[in-house]
Amino acid sequence: MVSTDTATLYLHPDRNIALELVRATEAAAIRSYPWIGRGDKLAADGAAVDAMRAFLGTVNFEGVVVIGEGEKDAAPMLFNGEKVGNGRGPACDIAVDPIDGTSLTAAGRQNALSVIAVADRGTMLDASSVFYMDKIVTDASGKGVVDIRKPIGENLRALAAAKGKHVGELRVAVLNRPRHEQLIADIRAAGAGTRLISDGDVAGGINAARYESRIDMCVGIGGSPEGITTACAIKALGGFMQGVLAPKDDEERARGEAAGLDCDRVYELDDLVRSDNTFFVATGVTDGELVDGVRKKGPIIRTESIVLRGRSGTIRRVVADHLAEKWLDEGDL
Ligand code: FBP
Repeated sequence: MVSTDTATLYLHPDRNIALELVRATEAAAIRSYPWIGRGDKLAADGAAVDAMRAFLGTVNFEGVVVIGEGEKDAAPMLFNGEKVGNGRGPACDIAVDPIDGTSLTAAGRQNALSVIAVADRGTMLDASSVFYMDKIVTDASGKGVVDIRKPIGENLRALAAAKGKHVGELRVAVLNRPRHEQLIADIRAAGAGTRLISDGDVAGGINAARYESRIDMCVGIGGSPEGITTACAIKALGGFMQGVLAPKDDEERARGEAAGLDCDRVYELDDLVRSDNTFFVATGVTDGELVDGVRKKGPIIRTESIVLRGRSGTIRRVVADHLAEKWLDEGDL
């Protein structure tokens, strides 16, 4: 016996826009490939932004960029408020991160992704006026168990109990930053292990919520644009997430509050993205636990992506072979 909802999904499947959007993250990842390890993060990001923008223009939707990226360090960006898509189709909010991990890409290190997240129009929190957000992400077992207001040790003990594990078996992803020195010490004092990441907390968050991952939790302060993007993926994965904005100073706090944000509030997953109709796509730029990075094999460039859809909870892995000569300049072939 199937439920009415299930039957509706099966008999009247609607469109999975993410299967079209994946072409844009693939394009961004491929165009940044010649810049991997070249020490120039702006050039890598610029190549990814241009490719993503061009491909977004072909997708049947009426997108508005709510979460653009790059304001932090004047990087090239798809700017907030920019209209994307061909204007035909559903009205959507879109969060873009042509490369999450520009420094990783420039250094040739692991875990850089090209990312797009989409939700129904007007449902993504526009957190762009406060750059940083404190986040906590787990899989579904953290729901009703973990709370960002509690000390990390307490959260880890509660999560371990909910997962039927010893605290010592838990692995916690944290951005390796001086601001997290105490947090890292507290995680270790509680008996859990850390997975220190040098950049890229979108992948860290997804790994914390993903079935079969080696990461149990992702915590700490990272970009708020990345927080909203991550939230779209966590919805599709059925995981748990909370975020608290972390303004750098009083001026940023005032800017955030003038924009309608509450810097003292705990934003639950449904506050970060109100709609359950979310889509998330990510293509590996460099290799990572989530997906492989772009690789060139003779005349072929291979990309690996994940495509998540909130409404159905489906996770697809898309491996694509592209003809290198169509994508790369002669000098890069
Ligand atoms: P970029 O690709 O824009 O450099 O972002 C990488 C990143 O590590 C994000 O994943 C993370 O949310 C943010 O930077 C953390 O910011 P900071 O490097 O200032 O600590």
